[in-house]
Amino acid sequence: MKTILRSNFLNPVNHDVCDFLPDYCLTIDEQGKIVSIEPFALTSINENDRLIELNNCVITPGLIDLHSHLPQYSAIGIGKGTLLSWLSNYIIPLESKFSNEKFAHEQSVAFFTEALLYGTTTIVTYCSIHRNSTSIAFETAAALGIRAFIGNSLIDLPNGPGYFIPLETIKSDIEYLLKKYHLTNSDKLSYIVSPRYAGSCTKELMNYCANFAKMNDLFIQTHLAENKSELELMKKLHPEFDNYTGIYAKTGLLTDKTFLAHCIYLDQSELAMIQKAGSIVCHCPTSNRYLSSGIMPLVNYQKIGLRIGLGTDVAAGYSLSLLNEAKEAIETSKSYGISNDRNGNDISATYAFYLSTKGAAENLKMSDKVGSIQIGLDADLAIFEMDCSHESPIAEDILRTLIYKKFNQTAKAVMIEGECVSGTL
Ligand code: GUN
Ligand code: FE
Repeated sequence: MKTILRSNFLNPVNHDVCDFLPDYCLTIDEQGKIVSIEPFALTSINENDRLIELNNCVITPGLIDLHSHLPQYSAIGIGKGTLLSWLSNYIIPLESKFSNEKFAHEQSVAFFTEALLYGTTTIVTYCSIHRNSTSIAFETAAALGIRAFIGNSLIDLPNGPGYFIPLETIKSDIEYLLKKYHLTNSDKLSYIVSPRYAGSCTKELMNYCANFAKMNDLFIQTHLAENKSELELMKKLHPEFDNYTGIYAKTGLLTDKTFLAHCIYLDQSELAMIQKAGSIVCHCPTSNRYLSSGIMPLVNYQKIGLRIGLGTDVAAGYSLSLLNEAKEAIETSKSYGISNDRNGNDISATYAFYLSTKGAAENLKMSDKVGSIQIGLDADLAIFEMDCSHESPIAEDILRTLIYKKFNQTAKAVMIEGECVSGTL
């Protein structure tokens, strides 16, 4: 039996173009793939097909969050201060509690459930340092049906009361997690190599991560240049390198499958290294304000052709809603313009939406599977209640209504591979 959704669709095309398709039908086959998308008037509907009328809704590709921290979910809005004190006062004590498996399970369920509620169908996340809590995160993601890239936070420098793991144990943990959850038949789960940041890793660990990722063709995630005191810490911990980005470049961590969260304080030579490697700068505007870290010059990076992604960075980011993050990316581009006397440099809703969907899928090398609405792709969809009949038929206007009015509203329903995994249809 095929499923046909009759509704209004927003389909990202590129940085500058998004299609709005009012009163279209999207047909999904038994394998969860999109087999047609055409105007209602042209769609042939068989009596065996399941037709679902969603006239009062707008349907987007499932949203893709490129940076988050599962174990920090319960700290949303609680921790305060700036990066280094926030980490040591709130976050490391909280993440340490993930040695308790019951707690790890409860938190994993809460985290993925909320991501789904906001329309996120693919999420890239850090777990705690523990192998068992990371296993629990993988198993919870599988049970809820969300696509997830998950990595145990890799820390071998003592960063807090006992919150580190010796390198030899890390080696066996990541080997175990790779075999158990990545090298399987499920294509929804991936292991991502996750050295926390150079502030908590030895050079040996970073080298090991780079080799391990290369041997197994894996994505890597880490943090870079988020806060000025963090830059000072790098000089102290790793004095043999010229600058922060140089630590990652020389240890082999800068690849075209590396996500670099924050990237606020980078000089020209560092930007050139990132560009040459083809790594992805992961913009986390909500977090950057919450921790008073600074403003990433998004438009400047866009102009020099850096690859860019978007992440909620919960819990320095206060919400798992990617529509909220898109709104914050737009508003933050204005703040940057205002404080640098460059008004008119704000990004469009079309671009923010592209970063949340198709652009993110391209960064994850999975745009042939998800991220847009095209025949042959998996039906990963977010369905938001929204009366489009009063809106202009211009996609940018519809998107602005979605991003500015609905950012805090959960999706009516969410589909992954054609299955409803959250809400009701
Ligand atoms: N840098 C190292 N660890 C973290 C973290 O958990 N959150 C943020 N925002 N930055 C970090
Ligand atoms: Fe982060």
